[in-house]
Amino acid sequence: MSGLLQLEGINKSFSGVSVLKNVKLDIYPGEVHALLGENGAGKSTLMKILTGVYSPDSGTVKIDGQPLTLHSIHDARNYGIEMIHQEISLFPSLSIAENLLIGREKIFSKMGFIDRTKLRERTNEVLQRLMLKKDPNTLVKELSVGEQQLVEIAKALLMDVRYLIMDEPTAALTDLETERLFDIIQSLKASNVGIIYISHRMEELFSIVDRVTVMRDGQYIDTRMIKDATEHQLVSLMVGRSVTERYPKEQASVGEEILRLENVSSAHVHHITLNIRAGEIVGIGGLMGSGRTEVARIIFGVDRKTKGNLVWKQQVCNFKSPVEAIKKGIAFATEDRKQQGLVLSAGIRENISLPTLKQRSKFGFIESSKEKTLVNSMITKLRIKSHSMDQEACRLSGGNQQKVVLAKWMATEPSLFILDEPTRGIDVGAKQEIYRLMNQIVAEGNAILLISSDLPELLGMSDRVYVMRDHTIAGELQRDSFDQDVFIKIATGGELQ
Ligand SMILES: Nc1ncnc2c1ncn2[C@@H]1O[C@H](COP(=O)(O)OP(=O)(O)OP(=O)(O)O)[C@@H](O)[C@H]1O
Ligand SMILES: [Mg+2]
Repeated sequence: MSGLLQLEGINKSFSGVSVLKNVKLDIYPGEVHALLGENGAGKSTLMKILTGVYSPDSGTVKIDGQPLTLHSIHDARNYGIEMIHQEISLFPSLSIAENLLIGREKIFSKMGFIDRTKLRERTNEVLQRLMLKKDPNTLVKELSVGEQQLVEIAKALLMDVRYLIMDEPTAALTDLETERLFDIIQSLKASNVGIIYISHRMEELFSIVDRVTVMRDGQYIDTRMIKDATEHQLVSLMVGRSVTERYPKEQASVGEEILRLENVSSAHVHHITLNIRAGEIVGIGGLMGSGRTEVARIIFGVDRKTKGNLVWKQQVCNFKSPVEAIKKGIAFATEDRKQQGLVLSAGIRENISLPTLKQRSKFGFIESSKEKTLVNSMITKLRIKSHSMDQEACRLSGGNQQKVVLAKWMATEPSLFILDEPTRGIDVGAKQEIYRLMNQIVAEGNAILLISSDLPELLGMSDRVYVMRDHTIAGELQRDSFDQDVFIKIATGGELQ
């Protein structure tokens, strides 16, 4: 078939460390090809070679047997290869339209000037296709993370693509947005676009993918038709061992109440009453925008409460800032880890040890052996894949960056750990590690507040779940009577099925 894209014998190392070893991959036009592998397996690096961001040390990329010259993303674009990146790379203070224009000025120029009308028309067309109901002049910083991801996708659709790489496009999307994306994938397929699809959400692969290639530790493992594969087989190929229990929930003994909210309101949520006891994992579920994160923001002293009481370990408190909340023993791993959780230019060691620096300094000096022990134990516990503990955070794979954020908070040994979407973008093997860590945290007499859009995960790991709807709590479910349908009914007010 004409238009076969092939990568052959690709090798790549960074500072002498080999991250891709003789990797191959081929994509037919009109095919959706999933690329699977654990965090750090080399998926994004391989795709950056295909898009001219990195040059391989050896190996070739061909279309119909003809080698391509790929020295830049512009070269790749000329062959019709576009990539939707894992990291959102938009300019927050520019508008949607301006963000779409960057790097594509040539297409929209008319006699040396930018053809604003054409740009606006094309932007509107793409936004409509993505059903993103926003004025193209809206500033990107005013959009939610999910909407920003849609703009990232819009960037790739602005051009006529032949091959489209999607690196975890659904990580921050709602179910509805994901469905729309799948419709778009179907229509791209119908117009013969070849799609490479990277995702850690195994269950979604089976509805849209034709073939799947698995990588492990920078090596090619296998390619299969998805209809001939089971989820269990693919997971085993990825992690190199058999993974049995998906949610290894253990029951901890429940102790004293740690936190209580009594009829609390803020500018974003109202009449929130809930409690969390030592030893409990308490879930907060609900649709995106129902106010889950906003509840966490009140507890952590980011948003002011306008009404009601916050009771921390039997004392009425009012955290005026995150610093106060951290001092009392609260940690908050936010959903937006890239922007709020990491110093990208600093090493793993600094990132993990930053919040607890004081505990390890003596007369103003950092006890570096203590620091090293702490950082090393976190790297092992969370299986953070890196060359050294001083590797810059920006050079870690996406999933490993998230693990560093979790490690940083774990090091503060909090009594209450608020986890907002803790496993988004994290591979199946590492998810299990995080679930085990959650068990361990509560077994030690601490508590977890878990916010997750992944319903099986929320119900799999929580002891109780508060269901939010329209900025307030609409119901509470106990573990022994968890039921997905009941949950969805409460979360949607029974309107949707
Ligand atoms: N610019 C770089 N410099 C040094 N090492 C790098 C660089 N980019 C990637 N690496 C390393 O290469 C390996 C593969 O990373 P890559 O981002 O390709 O993984 P991935 O499969 O996309 O993982 P994830 O699922 O977490 O996104 C990792 O060990 C990473 O630390
Ligand atoms: Mg990646």
